[in-house]
Amino acid sequence: MVEDRLEEIFNSFKSSQIYINREILLPDYVPDELPHRDKQIIELATILAPALSGSKPPNVFIYGLTGTGKTAVTKYVLRRLSKKAGGRVLAAYVNCRSSNTNYRVLAELSSAVGRPVPFTGLSTAEVLRRFVQGLEKQGRIMMAVLDEVDWLVKSSGDSVLYHLTRLNSELTRSRLSVIGITNDLRFMEYIDPRIKSGLGEEELVFPPYTNKELEDILRKRAELAFKPGVLEEGVIPLCAAIAAKQNGDCRLALDLLLKAADIAERERVGKVTEDHVRRAQRELEKNLIVDAVKTMPLHVKLILVSVYLLEKSDSLKNITTGEIYNSYREICKKIGVGEVTQRRVSEILSELDMLGIINARVVSLGRYGRTKIIKLAVSEKSLVEGLKSDPSFYSLIDPLLNMLS
Ligand SMILES: Nc1ncnc2c1ncn2[C@@H]1O[C@H](COP(=O)(O)OP(=O)(O)OP(=O)(O)O)[C@@H](O)[C@H]1O
Ligand SMILES: [Mg+2]
Repeated sequence: MVEDRLEEIFNSFKSSQIYINREILLPDYVPDELPHRDKQIIELATILAPALSGSKPPNVFIYGLTGTGKTAVTKYVLRRLSKKAGGRVLAAYVNCRSSNTNYRVLAELSSAVGRPVPFTGLSTAEVLRRFVQGLEKQGRIMMAVLDEVDWLVKSSGDSVLYHLTRLNSELTRSRLSVIGITNDLRFMEYIDPRIKSGLGEEELVFPPYTNKELEDILRKRAELAFKPGVLEEGVIPLCAAIAAKQNGDCRLALDLLLKAADIAERERVGKVTEDHVRRAQRELEKNLIVDAVKTMPLHVKLILVSVYLLEKSDSLKNITTGEIYNSYREICKKIGVGEVTQRRVSEILSELDMLGIINARVVSLGRYGRTKIIKLAVSEKSLVEGLKSDPSFYSLIDPLLNMLS
């Protein structure tokens, strides 16, 4: 009976076999302790502390690779500073990846100073004006965190950053400090030198975590998240080792641990093993490929489709760049889009090779010169899934793929 089976499933999941508190492993959770970030915590707190005596702290620019604790440390310090300041300091946090236009960033800051503005409809200049008015009325020191600020600049330019970093000359009763955070290490190269000097009054670098540091961090969080003894001994070291290879990314380490534990929980085995971690790793890698393919520009996708179709039509044959170019041109004709040059196609193939989506091997053709032999380096399944997750693109090429399958 399906009813009985359901009852059984629901009952067995009513209490977790392995978690005490799964939330502790989620990406947004800010833990009470951030091991191996004492130096950065103290530095940031020292830079911002003048706010406690009423003077404006310098603007701060924080950078470091992904998953090195920039967001966690900043939130941690601001939380404590705001508490200590007891109302004299106003901290606002904006994630510029989700609020990636000048308008939306200003709208969020404006609502943080008690001046909410409509979603659209006003000019950016008007929202800025309301924000300044609201801030003046507060008579406080405001710290505005612009996290992942590169997303704002790439999609909307740097004018808001320019205004915000030199707003103090317009203020009489309040002060504004901007804390900009990015994992784009080239960010400072492509912004205007005037913003660079304004934002980078103080700079903080977050180095990648080492293998050992990641292990410590995971152990601390695992102690609170899991029931005692459910992690097999090698589990944490393996998660840490995999993440240490990926530029010391703590988010990846936590993701692996969470995903591995979720697999174990689903299987009701009561123990998380190294095998679970390896399966979690494969799953995460697949998601990364799907995401990477999904967000690629049109012609890059079309070239991938060409490689895919050529491989499908004869899996043993060596595919050359020339063949890919021809097949790509045919596809462009069939779906009625203009094509890019052969030179550009070669460049795209090199980029895809670097990303590890395809494998390119140079072979000599004797007196005919040299060519590249191309192979897909990811599973067909992940590739197709990635292409499918962009519906407008997929409807374009769906008929072509269907011809084969
Ligand atoms: N020292 C630490 N102790 C405990 N958890 C940490 C530590 N550093 C980072 N984390 C955790 O790792 C994850 C990633 O950290 P965080 O979001 O701060 O990275 P980030 O540097 O902001 O990365 P990105 O550039 O991708 O935004 C978060 O879940 C965070 O809680
Ligand atoms: Mg971050």
